Amino acid sequence: MPLKKQIESVRNQFLADIESFPNDPPLIDQLRSKYLGRKGLVAQLLSKMSQVKPEDRPNIGKELNNLKIDLNRQFDHKVSSLLAKDHKYADESIDITLPGKEPRIGSIHILEQTLSEIKEIFISIGFHVAYGPEVDDDYHNFSALNIPESHPARDMQDTFFVDNKTVLRTHTSNVQIHLMENEEPPIRYIVPGRVYRNEAISYKSYCLFHQVEGIYVNKRVSFAELKGCLEYFIRHMFGAKRKMRFRPSYFPFTEPSAEVDIWDEERHEWLEILGCGMVDPNVLDNVGYDSNIWHGYAFGMGVERIAMLKYNINDIRLFYNGDIRFLEQFI
Ligand code: DAH
Repeated sequence: MPLKKQIESVRNQFLADIESFPNDPPLIDQLRSKYLGRKGLVAQLLSKMSQVKPEDRPNIGKELNNLKIDLNRQFDHKVSSLLAKDHKYADESIDITLPGKEPRIGSIHILEQTLSEIKEIFISIGFHVAYGPEVDDDYHNFSALNIPESHPARDMQDTFFVDNKTVLRTHTSNVQIHLMENEEPPIRYIVPGRVYRNEAISYKSYCLFHQVEGIYVNKRVSFAELKGCLEYFIRHMFGAKRKMRFRPSYFPFTEPSAEVDIWDEERHEWLEILGCGMVDPNVLDNVGYDSNIWHGYAFGMGVERIAMLKYNINDIRLFYNGDIRFLEQFI
């Protein structure tokens, strides 16, 4: 019988054997050595290769090789399917059709998102970002900002004192002073950060909140530029249609001073979001800038107020109590 036929017959014999053989792994191993062992049927076929005509060898060799690979695969398959059926292993089988557990993914807090938006808008018009101390001396938080000790303006903000001369900053304006003390003009910065006030906690005030301060000092700085800058900011933050207004106001560190209100459609009222003005010459003199040469504008905005208006949030405490139901609305 030509070798090709013999290969065919070994394959058929194997198929019949494996079908009818008992489902027992040790017996399967016996069968494996009958076919694939050192003196097995496949090895016997291989030893006959020398009788094959040289021109037929590549073809026959390939077929024999395929037979060997094929039998090996089928034995492996038979053994593993037997093991899977075995009780000992059945308990460990994995049902890959079961839906997986979805991991809970965190997100960026809505205040942090709002801060990022504010920063981006000011960076796009040439402001740098700076940070300063949250625990500061009385001088930087008050006196240098033209708020002397006996001044009634100190009552505008209820202060947490660390000791006689040290406070938790009541606003980010303290960083205006640090920046000007450390750098020669011209300067243009925004300063995001946390501030603290000893106020009764309610839906609209909390003992800590966030502000973004702005300060620009140069040789020629006008109130018109201040208005232009803040209008640009509000248009980008709230959209072109949102109603806003500048209202004259008073701050010890600016002259003239103003506040900006945004129209709140929900409550039908104006809501103040920031204070601003031209830097008072006394403040410039306090940091050693010659107020005859240098002029500046400054502003300070409440980040929670802005987020509340933009996202229709009606209680400032929601930002701080970590309730997932609130937080996940802003993913
Ligand atoms: N520091 C003020 C506050 O906390 C806000 C403010 C008003 C900041 C006017 C400024 C400014 O820089 O020019 O209420």
